[in-house]
Amino acid sequence: MRKIAAILLTIFTGAAGVHAKDSSCISCHRSPDWFSDTSVVVAYLSGDTHLNFGIGCEDCHGGDPRIGMAEGDPTLAMDPAKGYKPPPDRTGIPAFCARCHSDIDFMKRYNPRLPTDQMALYKTSVHGKQLLESGDTKVAVCTDCHGAHGILPAADSRSKVNFRNVPRTCATCHSDPVHMAGYKTEGGRAIPVDQYEEFVQSVHGKLALEKEDQAAPVCNDCHGSHGATPPNIASVSASCGECHASNRDFFNASPHAAPWKELGYADCEQCHGSHLIMAATDKMVGVDNGALCIQCHDPGTGGYQAALTMQAGIDSLRAAIAAAEEVVHQAETKGVEGGEARFDLGAAKDNLVRVRAVVHTFDPAQVTEITSAGIKTAEAVRLTAEESLGDLRVRQIGLGISLILIMIVAFGLWRKIKQVDSRTDFTAHGG
Ligand code: HEC
Ligand code: HEC
Ligand code: HEC
Ligand code: HEC
Ligand code: HEC
Ligand code: HEC
Ligand code: HEC
Ligand code: HEC
Ligand code: HEC
Repeated sequence: MRKIAAILLTIFTGAAGVHAKDSSCISCHRSPDWFSDTSVVVAYLSGDTHLNFGIGCEDCHGGDPRIGMAEGDPTLAMDPAKGYKPPPDRTGIPAFCARCHSDIDFMKRYNPRLPTDQMALYKTSVHGKQLLESGDTKVAVCTDCHGAHGILPAADSRSKVNFRNVPRTCATCHSDPVHMAGYKTEGGRAIPVDQYEEFVQSVHGKLALEKEDQAAPVCNDCHGSHGATPPNIASVSASCGECHASNRDFFNASPHAAPWKELGYADCEQCHGSHLIMAATDKMVGVDNGALCIQCHDPGTGGYQAALTMQAGIDSLRAAIAAAEEVVHQAETKGVEGGEARFDLGAAKDNLVRVRAVVHTFDPAQVTEITSAGIKTAEAVRLTAEESLGDLRVRQIGLGISLILIMIVAFGLWRKIKQVDSRTDFTAHGG
């Protein structure tokens, strides 16, 4: 598809007059006579998106790709008079890439849907500010995240910015204590180097890296690719809420929302953490050891009471489901058809799933509403199953009685047959 698009583009725009194989830049730079290391061209020819769109070496570096090879003279091709410029240093890279990528008219000719805001966003990021305002070249520039030759779109699984590879791309710097030494967060503490290590163990990391599920966030989903790093407290919750929308909405309407803003707490991170986010459990609600609520709420306060009520509701719902399941199972092993009971049990379990999100209202009344409804359903299932077990017992007793009757009759018959037989025997002997 891309190749076809590139060919059509070349026809329509009349761009890129020189085909890759006719380019003196490529011929010379991959010739072992001239270069012992041809990795630049190898990377470029292995599917660089620029190549596919007809962007040649000369479009980035300048120069004349039609001459120089036959003459054996690099200066003919790499001629400053023909626009050739030596490659930029790290400070110059963003402007070098942005020359095209921030040029809306130019980019529109290739792909009207591709955003052209990378440079604008980059300038607002910690990386961009440090590089462009303080001249710190240890921060990330475009080529650290994308490469320079062999640049691939994010959808390509080999791309450095594909979701499977982003964590490693960021970790090349962020997990290197030497590289990160001396840097401080806005709050003034040393920037840790454990984000990758923690992320890979998190629910999100496991889902993204082990299950290769793109629904899970990787570094740039929370931090942004080009801008907005690091997330400030408001944007963190916004990024969690993009995927966990109902949790966000519940939280925003909860008694935590306003006081937490004043206290400067982060909406989600405060309870779930940032990189080491683990699967949530019921144990996090309530007043037992390990529950979150008692970190901030002492006995006798409204928060403590709410935690207690919510815990009781959830525990009772779990217990009711377990009890119903037990009876349904018994009934099934005895041959009672359990389809409908299982269906209703599913509904009760849905309440259990739903209440885990509704916890974020931090409103015991809303939690109880859902747990009570679930308990009612589970109780009804249990009663029905017990009734059918009861029916079964009546039928089993009936069956037992008739079995005994049948056996008595059979025994009687057998005795009769025996008597007849012995008489016959006797006659036979006697005869
Ligand atoms: C006949 C061979 C030849 C041709 C044709 C040629 N180059 Fe080069 N190029 C070289 C050699 C040799 C070097 C390394 C020595 C140097 O830096 O001048 C080089 C270096 C470069 C560098 C790195 C310069 C630096 O300062 O690090 C760039 C960029 C480059 N070439 C781009 C191009 C482009 C673009 C074209 C086509 C328009 C091209 N070359 C055509 C031989 C060639
Ligand atoms: C999308 C723009 C782009 C294209 C297309 C491109 N280059 Fe480069 N090139 C760069 C940038 C940026 C650098 C410097 C930064 C770096 O290497 O990380 C660079 C650096 C180089 C260097 C210096 C050595 C090196 O490895 O960094 C050489 C040689 C070079 N390019 C040759 C080529 C040749 C030959 C082609 C065509 C096959 C080409 N480039 C196509 C952007 C490009
Ligand atoms: C000469 C103009 C030009 C320069 C300079 C340039 N690009 Fe591109 N770039 C393009 C065009 C055209 C495309 C194709 C549009 C597309 O992929 O949809 C493209 C595509 C890309 C893509 C793939 C986008 C996608 O998801 O489809 C990335 C990533 C990219 N460029 C990064 C860079 C980086 C990093 C630099 C600097 C090292 C750079 N580009 C320099 C013109 C340029
Ligand atoms: C800190 C790493 C990082 C830096 C620095 C960076 N990018 Fe990106 N870029 C990404 C990631 C990650 C994506 C993929 C987003 C996605 O998954 O769709 C991306 C996507 C892109 C795309 C595809 C379109 C888009 O906006 O999603 C282009 C084009 C691009 N970057 C160009 C650039 C240019 C030009 C620069 C320098 C001004 C740059 N990038 C700097 C990480 C980076
Ligand atoms: C080339 C190395 C490099 C790469 C690659 C890199 N970073 Fe950075 N990043 C840095 C450095 C150095 C800083 C420290 C800048 C400062 O605080 O002054 C930084 C700062 C940050 C910050 C701000 C930390 C704070 O509290 O101030 C965030 C967030 C961040 N990077 C995220 C990312 C993400 C996400 C990626 C990958 C998409 C990434 N970085 C890729 C070098 C890099
Ligand atoms: C689920 C969202 C999420 C993901 C995924 C994520 N982060 Fe973060 N990150 C955060 C939050 C939240 C903070 C704390 C921000 C604050 O306190 O202002 C943070 C902080 C940071 C910081 C600042 C220093 C620190 O640790 O507090 C860096 C650097 C950073 N993250 C890098 C990364 C890298 C690299 C990855 C991928 C390996 C990553 N993050 C993945 C949410 C995320
Ligand atoms: C006061 C602590 C607290 C805060 C703040 C908080 N959560 Fe939770 N979260 C919990 C508890 C407790 C559970 C476990 C409920 C259960 O399993 O019974 C949970 C469970 C979850 C779950 C798993 C259940 C589900 O709904 O799928 C997700 C996802 C989640 N929280 C996301 C968020 C997001 C997003 C935010 C920010 C808007 C947030 N949480 C804020 C305490 C909190
Ligand atoms: C790009 C989407 C996305 C973003 C952004 C995101 N998550 Fe998730 N999160 C998921 C997916 C997908 C899962 C796994 C499926 C599920 O359980 O909902 C998950 C799982 C979770 C779980 C465990 C759920 C459980 O059932 O135990 C918690 C807790 C959680 N996320 C909290 C957060 C927090 C806090 C943030 C922000 C710092 C965040 N998430 C950002 C998509 C996202
Ligand atoms: C990080 C600290 C923190 C955690 C953890 C926390 N809360 Fe709170 N909570 C607060 C603050 C601060 C307030 C507002 C001041 C107050 O009423 O105590 C509040 C208020 C409340 C209120 C309103 C109290 C009232 O009297 O109006 C309820 C209800 C509540 N929290 C329930 C919970 C539950 C349930 C949990 C556990 C799932 C929890 N909180 C976890 C800090 C926290």
